[in-house]
Amino acid sequence: MRLLSSLGVFTQTGNHFGLTPVGELLQSHSSRSMRDLAVMFNDPWSTAAWTELPHSVRTGGDGVTKAFGKNTFELFHDEPDQAANFHAAMTNFSRSVVDATLEAYDFSHFSHLADVGGGHGVLLGSILRHTPGLRGVLFDLPEVLAGAPAAGHLASLEDRVELQPGSFFETVPTGVDAYILKSIIHDWSDDHSRRILRLLRDQLAACDPENGRVLLCEMVVPDNGAPAPAKFLDIEMLVCTIGGKERTASTFSASRSAILAYLFPSRADWVRALGKQGGDSRIWAGIHYQIDNESGVALGESVAQKFIDWASKDGSQ
Ligand SMILES: C[S@@+](CC[C@H](N)C(=O)[O-])C[C@H]1O[C@@H](n2cnc3c(N)ncnc32)[C@H](O)[C@@H]1O
Repeated sequence: MRLLSSLGVFTQTGNHFGLTPVGELLQSHSSRSMRDLAVMFNDPWSTAAWTELPHSVRTGGDGVTKAFGKNTFELFHDEPDQAANFHAAMTNFSRSVVDATLEAYDFSHFSHLADVGGGHGVLLGSILRHTPGLRGVLFDLPEVLAGAPAAGHLASLEDRVELQPGSFFETVPTGVDAYILKSIIHDWSDDHSRRILRLLRDQLAACDPENGRVLLCEMVVPDNGAPAPAKFLDIEMLVCTIGGKERTASTFSASRSAILAYLFPSRADWVRALGKQGGDSRIWAGIHYQIDNESGVALGESVAQKFIDWASKDGSQ
């Protein structure tokens, strides 16, 4: 406890210890809990991946494949306990950006929203509760959706939400006027991402080319030397995914994905809580980094038609 006090997790007065805002994030019952995220970072797939960091830096290949001979999502298929910790961790993380997302974006002009790779549905459930009349589709791999009802994030929304299993490399939900993808594109290389986005493009072209939207919710790496959690997550993607990465705002706006919306959840609860520590170096989930004090939500948005125009020019038809 003395050590953790010295690192900002506890306060210490003599032999009395208390929780700091960072320590509160590790409580399981806190609505802002990051406990499951901390547990996940200590699971074998994660620690083995980080052990392979030199391999990843030298070759660009991920540490999970090096250590286990299969990529992270293939491993989760075979390791349900580690998969369960991963999805609980994603729920922690997503819950922390719900307020920023709802604050940043008005979902009420849609009638039907699909959360693609939506995990156990905490984000979709929050958006639906906040937006009466909106219907939802939760799309993810079959084994992931199997855990969604028990997770309870869609409780009492059963008449407004449909669970649709599938792989986003093969199919995406049809008949919706908006897609949201949170922490999906960052898991994948540009080529993988294009495969996913092209399927969305084709569906929007058929369904609602004028008003349809694709919303990407991702961290954004600052274009300068400023400290930022996204820079840590970028290396997490290097060691844990096959070609995933965090992208900069200029990549989003200069690359072809510029025409997609992105939300910058810099006002996430955990950023706020860590910021309360003084905005200086802190420990989070065992990783030492500095807090990005940037405030506000940057929001880009575009009409699906532009997306379709771009994609058509891409020669990918
Ligand atoms: C980083 S998690 C993000 C989950 C959720 N969107 C969130 O932010 O909490 C990536 C999600 O993509 C899903 N996923 C991975 N490969 C997939 C595939 N081929 N098709 C559909 N979903 C997939 C995973 O099961 C997982 O739920």
